[in-house]
Amino acid sequence: MQKFVIHGGKRLEGDITVQGAKNSALPILSAAMLCDGESILENCPELSDVYAACQILTHSGCRCRMENHTVTIQAETIQNAEIPENLMQEMRSSIIFLGAMLGRTGECISGYPGGCELGSRPIDLHLQAFQKMGVKIQEENGILFCTTPNGLHGAKIHLQFPSVGATENIMLAAVLADGETIISNAAREPEIFDLANYLKKCGAKITGAGESTIFIEGVKKLHGCTYRIMPDRIVTATWLAAAAATGGTIRLLQADTGSLEGILDVFEQMHCSCSHTKKTICFSANKPLKAIRCLKTMPYPGFPTDAQAIVMAVLCQVKGTSLIEETIFENRFRHTDALMRMGADIQIAGRAAIVHGVKKLHGATVSATDLRGGAAMLIAGLSAEGETVITELSHIDRGYDKPEKILANIGADIRRR
Ligand code: EPZ
Repeated sequence: MQKFVIHGGKRLEGDITVQGAKNSALPILSAAMLCDGESILENCPELSDVYAACQILTHSGCRCRMENHTVTIQAETIQNAEIPENLMQEMRSSIIFLGAMLGRTGECISGYPGGCELGSRPIDLHLQAFQKMGVKIQEENGILFCTTPNGLHGAKIHLQFPSVGATENIMLAAVLADGETIISNAAREPEIFDLANYLKKCGAKITGAGESTIFIEGVKKLHGCTYRIMPDRIVTATWLAAAAATGGTIRLLQADTGSLEGILDVFEQMHCSCSHTKKTICFSANKPLKAIRCLKTMPYPGFPTDAQAIVMAVLCQVKGTSLIEETIFENRFRHTDALMRMGADIQIAGRAAIVHGVKKLHGATVSATDLRGGAAMLIAGLSAEGETVITELSHIDRGYDKPEKILANIGADIRRR
């Protein structure tokens, strides 16, 4: 079993080129299945979740090749619209293929994603929307059998919650459906804007992506295209947090500063200094950081839930008391046990975490609980005194492309064993 061995306390200094966004690559890989032709996706991160998505495409009859951060998908013929059970269990966000399979073939057989480390992860908003679009859904022993006996048609859909996955899945089903689909209270995350840009380049008719109401006019066919995946804003936040936790000075290249308002603002509240152009961020934490009285995770453009654990790892060593409220997922504080083993002083009260800053964390052996929780342990280990060992790296490898290489390049003492 692989593990990270980190000797903390090294100030991080240097340049990092930000990887492509996992949460944009996954829905766009699914969207490639809608196209009767070849798509070339550039700046695609090399992650286990991306490999799983390619396996689903291959299983459905597409040809999928990945080399040097570019994925080529040939989706001329779809032989079967099925998301294999094992892949659904391995990656719950595989549910994002449901919309594309329904859009392209009018049917889909899928395992039920079920809960994960962050909570129950229901898909009721996805399924309710599909039923409004003419999809019949039968569930037997945890398998969903979806068909469209009278075809797939547009619908007016209001989301009770601005779910990212549900917004993406509806878009994927709507672009080839009969007539117009209107999604109100849609999620506004930048990855949705990226997905819409890819689909429009393939010939889809979409307006309003990135706003709260999205209009999609179904078309008959989509062709493939060449598209560059947007930079990963959560990975960007991770590297900023690593620099903040070690008092470092870094420059992030090929970033997407337009999608980072809710994140850069939080680091500035902590008294980090950051200046940026459209694609480059100059960041330093060379003075004592400040606690944050109240930090609340919100749907975009608020502070993202995916950055909650990452920022908590920094606040553990910041003088003063910070309150963090997790409003999106019901169980997203699982990383606090590990941080407390490293000497952090954190109290959990329901969806709130109260972080009392300590002078210094100390190394420990911890195991990653989930993707961003694992990233939080990485950040804590980089600044803790002594040696930190992190196991269960498969969680971290789902979202970070060779993080140990990136961090070692800017002065971290970290090795993958
Ligand atoms: C996406 O997950 C991201 N994953 C998550 O990133 C991210 O945390 C989340 O959006 C919120 O920004 C991908 O894009 C692959 P949601 P998703 O549907 O689509 C409830 C990471 O670390 N809900 O917006 O699953 C749900 O339970 C991952 O990269 C329903 O109740 O998020 C949750 O409480 C983790 N019914 C809330 O909405 C539904 O049908 C947000 O979920 C769907 C969701």
